Amino acid sequence: MGRVRPGERGPPGPGPAPPPPPAPRRARALALLGALVAAAAAVAAARAYARHAEAQAAARQESALKSLGTEGLFLFSSLDTDRDLYISPEEFKPIAEKLTGSAPAASYEEELPLDPSEETLTIEARFQPLIPESMTKSKDGFLGVSRLALSGLRNWTTAALPSAVFAARHFRPFLPPRGQVELGEPWWIIPSELSVFTGYLSNNRFYPPPPKGKEVIIHRLLSMFHPRPFVKTRFAPQGAVACLTAISDFYYTVMFRIHAEFQLSEPPDFPFWFSPGQFTGHIILSKDATHVRDFRLFVPNHRSLNVDMEWLYGASENSNMEVDIGYIPQMELEAVGPSVPSVILDEEGNVIDSRPPSGEPLQFVFEEIKWQQELSWEEAARRLEVAMYPFKKVAYLPFTEAFDQAKAKNKLVHSILLWGALDDQSCHCSGRTLRETVLESSPILALLNESFISTWSLVRELEDMQNNQENPSHKKLADLHLEKYSFPVEMMICLPNGTVVHHINANYFLDITSMKPEDIENNVFSFSSTFEDPSTATYMQFLKEGLRRGLPLLQP
Ligand SMILES: *[C@@H]1O[C@H](CO)[C@@H](O)[C@H](O)[C@H]1NC(C)=O
Ligand SMILES: *[C@@H]1O[C@H](CO)[C@@H](O)[C@H](O)[C@H]1NC(C)=O
Ligand SMILES: *[C@@H]1O[C@H](CO)[C@@H](O)[C@H](O)[C@H]1NC(C)=O
Repeated sequence: MGRVRPGERGPPGPGPAPPPPPAPRRARALALLGALVAAAAAVAAARAYARHAEAQAAARQESALKSLGTEGLFLFSSLDTDRDLYISPEEFKPIAEKLTGSAPAASYEEELPLDPSEETLTIEARFQPLIPESMTKSKDGFLGVSRLALSGLRNWTTAALPSAVFAARHFRPFLPPRGQVELGEPWWIIPSELSVFTGYLSNNRFYPPPPKGKEVIIHRLLSMFHPRPFVKTRFAPQGAVACLTAISDFYYTVMFRIHAEFQLSEPPDFPFWFSPGQFTGHIILSKDATHVRDFRLFVPNHRSLNVDMEWLYGASENSNMEVDIGYIPQMELEAVGPSVPSVILDEEGNVIDSRPPSGEPLQFVFEEIKWQQELSWEEAARRLEVAMYPFKKVAYLPFTEAFDQAKAKNKLVHSILLWGALDDQSCHCSGRTLRETVLESSPILALLNESFISTWSLVRELEDMQNNQENPSHKKLADLHLEKYSFPVEMMICLPNGTVVHHINANYFLDITSMKPEDIENNVFSFSSTFEDPSTATYMQFLKEGLRRGLPLLQP
């Protein structure tokens, strides 16, 4: 419902506006009231129905608990993907496959049949397991973490499939949508279906849902690392986004970014989620997807931590959960070479085998691609990042660079210090809530852009800087920051010399700004008229207080 604010009554007419006829106005007001009453009645009916359905579901849940016990019910629910308390044959499939020993991957293979007349390419997986010492919980020797919980992780030492053959055609989902020819203009291969309003997907799942449509190729590629990839993460932003970075007459270079995760456990163990920060990479393919010139997909490894892990240690997905972050040195897929035809026809249409049983396979010569337009790798990566994380519309500079800039421009630094990364999927902490709410709201973006230099850093990185004696000025900056830090996320406003003038802890911030459902319900009508998201208002206040304290201390 659009609301007209005072001073926004539409274009003024010439001369003094005639008084509006009173009768139709009252009629409209009445109609509006009628609509509100009807809406309220509909809301009440919907609530009554929801309460009835809820009561029924609770009763069924209760009886299921009686027959299965907590852990039995937990296992049952992990298979009951549609949460209707019945297991359909589709939902039972992973268990049937496990018990009968048939390969679960086979069911997806059917969707990618090979045609002997088309081009194929071989993709190799390179994998170095997660370094256990990089985990925070390694500090006390994994005290209190059961061996069982980590067994799926410890067992995962090699790629599930070191090499696999794909048809060039299978990569068609990486082509841009029809009509999309702008370099750097992102599109979604797999759209994100989650937001702060929809919440997240259940932790209590072991087997990925069967991939559909464009998910199939991504699922199959990620299956080369581990048999249980989920192409849609439990938390936003989900999906896969891509953009063009080069165009020629016949070819595209497409860069992509994928948020996906793996389930490392199987029943009867509890779920263990392994979420790399992101998968990125590029593909060079012909515009009709009959030829793939190059393909690479990898987890970036340039930061000191790049994987979030969450595991359950009991049959309650809300309270029995452990979290840690770690570093995986290598997780990478690469095409061995361009795609080549597996059979070749001579001029008469007779088949010439390209791989004769004796002797060398035929050598192919590939035409050189002449790119007409190109975009830098950095710029493309930035565009994909902003598509996933709108809060990145303002630049977040590396830590020390931010202070250099602040000095040069005589501005304050807005800094976020946190345990895991702010701009990938490896931090499932309050940083996630922040970036999906306040940090991407337009008034905050505008103020940050205008009055601050922004940065975010990992606690681990500042600790390294603190212990590095070689650069005393960087050490000083890190000292001043860490002094004010408390777990898990601290937001700070600093002078260019590093002095922190104001700070707030994210958990505290989220506590004071969280709206309980009752609050929203009681305010159902006044809410929309004075709507200003309380967390945005509070963050605004935080920034303004930082400016109030900091601006007078800046060099004149
Ligand atoms: C780990 O590997 C061992 C030996 O191959 C196997 O017995 C065990 O079931 C595996 N555990 C998990 C969780 O995969
Ligand atoms: C930031 O400010 C610059 C210059 O004032 C403007 O061009 C740009 O669009 C702004 N960006 C955002 C995200 O507000
Ligand atoms: C930074 O500058 C402010 C204001 O000039 C000063 O009060 C503060 O002591 C300085 N901090 C450091 C660490 O030099």
